[in-house]
Amino acid sequence: MFHLAWFLGDGYGIHPWSTTNGDGPWVGSNAFDWTDPDIYIDMATSLERAGFDYILIEDTAMVEDSYNGSADTSLRRGFMAPKSDPMPLVPIMTQATKHIGVIPTVSTIQYPPYLAARLYTTLDHLTGGRVGMNVVTSVTDRVAQNYGYDKHLDHDERYAMAMEWTDVVLQLQDSWKDGAVIADPESGVYADHTKVQPIDFEGKYFKSRGPLNTIPGPQRQPPICSAGSSEPGRDLAARYDDTMISMVRTGAEGRAYRDDMRARVAAYGRNPDDVKFMFLATPTIAATDDEAWAMVEAARAYRASDKGIEYNLWNMSYTSGGRIDFGGIDPDTLIRDIDLTKQNGENTSIKNLFEGHEDKTLREVVATSHQVSDMGLWGSPDTVAGKMEDLMAEIGGDGFLIYMPTTRMNFALVADGLAPALRRRGLIREEYTGGTLRDNLRAF
Ligand SMILES: Cc1cc2nc3c(=O)[nH]c(=O)nc-3n(C[C@H](O)[C@H](O)[C@H](O)COP(=O)(O)O)c2cc1C
Repeated sequence: MFHLAWFLGDGYGIHPWSTTNGDGPWVGSNAFDWTDPDIYIDMATSLERAGFDYILIEDTAMVEDSYNGSADTSLRRGFMAPKSDPMPLVPIMTQATKHIGVIPTVSTIQYPPYLAARLYTTLDHLTGGRVGMNVVTSVTDRVAQNYGYDKHLDHDERYAMAMEWTDVVLQLQDSWKDGAVIADPESGVYADHTKVQPIDFEGKYFKSRGPLNTIPGPQRQPPICSAGSSEPGRDLAARYDDTMISMVRTGAEGRAYRDDMRARVAAYGRNPDDVKFMFLATPTIAATDDEAWAMVEAARAYRASDKGIEYNLWNMSYTSGGRIDFGGIDPDTLIRDIDLTKQNGENTSIKNLFEGHEDKTLREVVATSHQVSDMGLWGSPDTVAGKMEDLMAEIGGDGFLIYMPTTRMNFALVADGLAPALRRRGLIREEYTGGTLRDNLRAF
């Protein structure tokens, strides 16, 4: 069996809303009502029906203007903006469900550790132990500038900061020891102060006295997720993650990645089986294989269109941390002649886009490559289920992070097409057995 999770890749933001964006006629009224909670409730109930472990809510907090030195493209097309704060969505989604977990993203440059520790412990209570933390370091200067920095810290330094940040959060969440809460109405004693102690943390980046001023939630330390696959990104994950998400292009790459990560987890004295590695998957599902193939071809044609190319160049600029304006580079420039060392954003994403394409022009790469590989996952529900089975056998575990445009059509394709096909093959859970997100992650 393997695990399933959903990547809400637009966060609590605007979803595909223009039928010419390549998302077909199923965008509904997203342009007008993306701020309403309804679609997120539909998403949570649908994916719970499909037995998903969790929904991961992406977040970024900026209006990006590195592409062509202007916010025009971001705002005209609704790329990564507008976007609202994901945290209040969590109780709304979990109130409508009983089992599925929700993992909102938290940036280590946006939240002081005490604020994050208190917020996630509060959410742990409100959700009955179904929240987790997606720890990110943020990608672009624009986010950093919104939170008081002149520019973003260098890539590796922000992971050093994230390491310390996570340590402080965990210490705060552990500052009420077992037995601290007595809550005895007879004696009128609520808590034993000897079991509630300051942490007196003083590091390079953070200082926090503690203790936390609320009691531990059902999971005490809600599960941690992260996505960095550079060296320091892997180190952070090996030390702290309960579930790690990643983007690979092939099953062989997935296996190498997972093997490497499991060895790193073991080197920290942790059990590698306690960390679930989830691989980003962007399936194209339709009633028949032929229909699905036509959709794959349409998506390819869209990527090579003016609108598709504009998106790709914009996304590359964002992914570089806002340090390279791909709109300002002559599209006939060879990749080898572009100074990619200036980038300070998502190291692995930039590598995936350009590695091996040094002799191509920017135009060729943009029209043909895609940051996220579909790993061949297209076809009818049964075909896709079979391909997922083969891929997981090759990788060795632990599951997929499904990433599709946020439309109710896609929820149905997955919950009522793909999931039943996976169940018929005995590949995903029939029912939930645990009470908390961590229980479900560790159920198999
Ligand atoms: C599936 C996935 C989801 C991500 N979600 C976010 C996010 O919500 N916010 C964010 O700032 N970065 C997000 N990232 C970026 C990662 O945190 C990280 O910067 C990226 O994977 C590059 O890591 P690296 O520089 O260690 O290779 C995500 C990455 C992946 C693969």
